Amino acid sequence: MAVVSVINQKGGVAKTTTSLNVASNWAAMGKRVLLIDLDPQSSATKAVFGDQEFEKTIFDVVMNQCLIEDTIVHSDRFDFDVVPAEILLSGIDLQLAAHFGRETILRRKLEPILRRYDAILFDCSPSLGLMTVNALMASQDIIIPICPEYFSLKGIELILQTLQNIRTGLGYKVGVRGVVITRFRDRRIAKKVIEDVQEVYGLKVYSNYIPDNIAVEEAHHDHSPVHKYAPKCAAAKAYTSLAKELW
Ligand SMILES: Nc1ncnc2c1ncn2[C@@H]1O[C@H](COP(=O)(O)OP(=O)(O)OP(=O)(O)O)[C@@H](O)[C@H]1O
Ligand SMILES: [Mg+2]
Repeated sequence: MAVVSVINQKGGVAKTTTSLNVASNWAAMGKRVLLIDLDPQSSATKAVFGDQEFEKTIFDVVMNQCLIEDTIVHSDRFDFDVVPAEILLSGIDLQLAAHFGRETILRRKLEPILRRYDAILFDCSPSLGLMTVNALMASQDIIIPICPEYFSLKGIELILQTLQNIRTGLGYKVGVRGVVITRFRDRRIAKKVIEDVQEVYGLKVYSNYIPDNIAVEEAHHDHSPVHKYAPKCAAAKAYTSLAKELW
């Protein structure tokens, strides 16, 4: 049973894309997978279900208005379960400012359903808010997607600092599984960044880089994982191989 956060405080690095496509490939491998959307923008929820509205979301769970079981929806297309998000989540930090134990709400809420799944993935928002801290406190480890460019290293530094703060401030050690290279284009700067991630930060970089490929974006619009939308494209194959590498 693995609980993993897909996280990077840098925006637009394919956290959501990677969560969706790794989760659906794991499902295709026969694993029971739950994807929990923690972003108020709800990109993962929308990519899977379009504009469908949900009576109960992760917001209600965290506000203690329902059980997590009551929010779970299955997607036949992606073949996994989802806990949807909604925009109200953007106000959660203020709502829970005086709440005792607010950093571990998700961990406690997840407890009763842990055994139902082989893997639970959190698609984190790009901010280091209370939901991201909750995801980290509920996870064994993290996967960091990066689009390799100069600023990627700053993002990694920030994440490692956050993990250190969680360790000293909240007494919990979150592991780093490794770094996923997304939107890869064969450029000198990309190679240099990947080298630095390995050598300067000592992190594992997965060998299956996800190439920049328009089919990935189109798959979101089609509400499909890319391995179903365009099975032959390089990005689809890369996500399938990456999912195996990550398991
Ligand atoms: N391999 C790829 N090739 C082409 N486009 C991609 C690829 N991966 C992601 N994208 C596109 O890049 C954009 C950002 O991706 P995504 O939403 O997954 O990033 P994110 O890190 O979750 O963003 P945010 O920080 O806003 O949550 C999306 O439009 C997505 O379709
Ligand atoms: Mg996202």
